[in-house]
Amino acid sequence: MNITVIGRGRVGGGLARLWETAGHEVRTLGRDGGDASDADVVVVAVPGHLIDEALRGVTGLNGQATIDATNLYAERGTDFPSLAHQVKSVVGGPTAKAFNTVFASSYELIGEQRVTPSNLYAADPEAKDVTARLIGDAGFDPVYVGDLDPGARLLEDSSGLTRALAGQIGPFFYRYGVPGEL
Ligand SMILES: NC(=O)c1ccc[n+]([C@@H]2O[C@H](COP(=O)([O-])OP(=O)(O)OC[C@H]3O[C@@H](n4cnc5c(N)ncnc54)[C@H](OP(=O)(O)O)[C@@H]3O)[C@@H](O)[C@H]2O)c1
Repeated sequence: MNITVIGRGRVGGGLARLWETAGHEVRTLGRDGGDASDADVVVVAVPGHLIDEALRGVTGLNGQATIDATNLYAERGTDFPSLAHQVKSVVGGPTAKAFNTVFASSYELIGEQRVTPSNLYAADPEAKDVTARLIGDAGFDPVYVGDLDPGARLLEDSSGLTRALAGQIGPFFYRYGVPGEL
């Protein structure tokens, strides 16, 4: 798959390494922007308050399937139901929220775990399969929480819990399973 990741920091750069290892073609774009017209999938991994600014610097965004990995640690500055909806308003394609509940600092340790760590995601129906595949190719077990609305906002609002827990035990993996599965 041809993936363009907007943001080449801990999340963007880290996911790019995981997906390249899985055999994908990945281009990362930073503050200097670039072109995404040949991307099958666009991934957004910039600070949540810089989404508009970052997407303005990218040409060729024209309805690709999109995965939004952002969180926001400030007041919401828009009326969109979620950051993922804000991203979708620019790119225009089927959109998912994923990777915002897992720690980039632990990406390299995924393969060393006794069980495969989960990764919660929400998605438009047309973005569901591609997102599950890319979550799997990054080494996680995809766990679908439902449609983008209201799933994306629920995942974004969970970042306070994630940070509180990380303050107690440090960066962590998590695993969801039905009874009998764990
Ligand atoms: N770190 C985590 O564990 C984690 C986990 C879940 C979700 N998140 C979320 O994922 C997003 C990225 O986090 P991160 O930790 O990867 O941040 P980071 O390491 O600080 O990287 C941020 C990236 O965004 C780019 N950027 C900043 N301003 C930009 C602009 N105006 N236009 C285009 N690109 C711009 C930077 O570009 P340059 O390289 O050119 O400076 C950099 O590549 C955030 O929304 C964060 O809340 C982070």
